[in-house]
Amino acid sequence: MARYSRICVCTTGLILSLLALLPSLRQATLTSHAKPPRRFFPAGSAVIDFPYGNMNPIVDLLQKEEILFVMYYAPWCAQSVSVREEFQKAAKYLIDKVKFVGVNCWWPEGSCRNTYKFLKYPELYVYHTNLDGFRFNGIPTADELVRFVEDILYPITLLHSVESINNFSALHDNVVIGNFDLSTPTPPGYKTYYISAMRMIEWNHLQPVKFSIVNKPLLSQLLGMNDTKQFVILNLNGSFVSICVQKKIFILK
Ligand SMILES: *[C@@H]1O[C@H](CO)[C@@H](O)[C@H](O)[C@H]1NC(C)=O
Ligand SMILES: *[C@@H]1O[C@H](CO)[C@@H](O)[C@H](O)[C@H]1NC(C)=O
Ligand SMILES: *[C@@H]1O[C@H](CO)[C@@H](O)[C@H](O)[C@H]1NC(C)=O
Repeated sequence: MARYSRICVCTTGLILSLLALLPSLRQATLTSHAKPPRRFFPAGSAVIDFPYGNMNPIVDLLQKEEILFVMYYAPWCAQSVSVREEFQKAAKYLIDKVKFVGVNCWWPEGSCRNTYKFLKYPELYVYHTNLDGFRFNGIPTADELVRFVEDILYPITLLHSVESINNFSALHDNVVIGNFDLSTPTPPGYKTYYISAMRMIEWNHLQPVKFSIVNKPLLSQLLGMNDTKQFVILNLNGSFVSICVQKKIFILK
């Protein structure tokens, strides 16, 4: 992550000072007579491009789609150009599942530029219906972009047996197991749990704290939870025995 932020030198501060040194260029870029922006993503690409940086169509899209992956770019920025290829590959791979969107957030007349003050480009955000965005903080290769969206799409794993609990905790360093009344469509506390799972993926998507749920009273009792809206946090190296020793029970308010 640190490496990525060092590589990305497309800071707006640097460019603004360059523009100040070059009044003619500044005029060309910032007046309404500037050349209209061109597509950044080629026609026929799996990415929907908004070269004029208008946010309204994106808000509309979010009403229709469960999930959107948005790349805010500056067309002149070398880092934006290099991520463009990876973003397109990821978009192509997930074409039936997730809409990928590119927004020129540098075009001075666009609502994006006038709303968001990004310190660098590109910025990558996943939006989930009616929620705030989840920022991609990792290294933007196609594989990592795909993994990030898929984790956000499916943030919670269902554990249905002792063996699946063992496998899940052996696979991940930090595991949360929740107990909810899944017979109702909106179990109390579940939304909070779900959003927390997504925030954990955003926070560290290389080694996230993985969230899961058990769907059988037998399993929740084995883990010491005899009521719903409870969860246990495990950080250990595997076996079910150590789960029973190291668990701590928390209650969702
Ligand atoms: C648990 O992991 C083992 C070994 O990888 C595998 O054979 C088994 O199918 C897994 N069980 C479940 C329920 O995921
Ligand atoms: C769980 O069950 C034990 C004993 O059956 C009881 O003492 C305890 O209060 C219960 N905890 C909750 C949160 O219901
Ligand atoms: C890993 O598991 C072993 C045996 O189950 C235990 O002795 C050890 O303390 C555990 N290590 C950590 C870091 O929990």
